[in-house]
Amino acid sequence: MEIKAEIAARTSQIEAVIAGYLPKEEGYQRTVIEAMNYSVLAGGKRLRPMLMWETYRMFGGRSKVIEPFMAAIEMIHTYSLVHDDLPAMDNDEYRRGRKTTHAQYGEAMGILAGDGLLNYAFETAVKAFEIEPGNANIGKALQILAAKSGIHGMLGGQCVDVEAEGKPVTEELLKLIYRLKTGALLESSMLIGAVLAGATKGEQRQVEQAAGELGLAFQIQDDILDVTGTTEVLGKPAGSDEKNHKSTWVTIYGIKEAGQEAERLSRHSVKLMEELVVKNEFLTALMMELTRREK
Ligand code: IPE
Ligand code: IPE
Ligand code: MG
Ligand code: MG
Ligand code: MG
Repeated sequence: MEIKAEIAARTSQIEAVIAGYLPKEEGYQRTVIEAMNYSVLAGGKRLRPMLMWETYRMFGGRSKVIEPFMAAIEMIHTYSLVHDDLPAMDNDEYRRGRKTTHAQYGEAMGILAGDGLLNYAFETAVKAFEIEPGNANIGKALQILAAKSGIHGMLGGQCVDVEAEGKPVTEELLKLIYRLKTGALLESSMLIGAVLAGATKGEQRQVEQAAGELGLAFQIQDDILDVTGTTEVLGKPAGSDEKNHKSTWVTIYGIKEAGQEAERLSRHSVKLMEELVVKNEFLTALMMELTRREK
């Protein structure tokens, strides 16, 4: 099967898993739940659950215990987008092909929907204990999910990103921002897949490093698309970085060099995965495909 068709087939399977874990829109707090589901169901590439699932399979994982974590990582990622788009942050009104959550439901509900998704992600992930009560790896996976989302992960990266606005940044600082704001959730995804499948410590380290490199490549490509893409294709506003006076890989090195760096990082990331004893050809093909993506 062609890679694009394989990605599409897995995306629909993942959508079904996520949908099964979304909260019911009922009660006096219905509005915030609607806003949460609005943002998750808007679509998106579902890359993080896909990376998690494929890494899990790569290490021989076969159980449904991975599924609540797949839903949880997409909830955390979606929360990061809902808050990233807020007026106080990137102030964007379009996301995943529809109005951003705050543009649709108002700023207060945008903030609460993001909070709701972050919390519900953990309410969801702990359901893994109902599937495999005695599995000690679930606790480790929860630790990773928590740490990679927080001040030493994605949230920390967003903090440094916001403070760097309007200022020139060094390559070193930019790499730190990308490693955290984008890399951390990719590391979380792949590492949780490896841990729940029972990978060794050495294998876990290798997977985490590969995911970190992939995260850098992924953010550099995101920077490129912000300049070369269109709002229609991206499903989010093109030119957001320029509007917010962001220093990016593109503003420092230009489009061409940025593209070469994304390609180099992706190749290295794939090489790290190929050094492992276990293989997953779809996963490595997916990782290379990401530098060629148009949205
Ligand atoms: C967007 O992530 C934010 C970045 C880390 C660059 P995605 O490009 O994965 O967004 P969706 O999930 O497909 O909407
Ligand atoms: C944000 O990076 C990454 C997050 C943690 C949300 P961007 O601000 O470049 O992401 P987009 O371009 O809005 O998706
Ligand atoms: Mg941002
Ligand atoms: Mg943004
Ligand atoms: Mg961007």
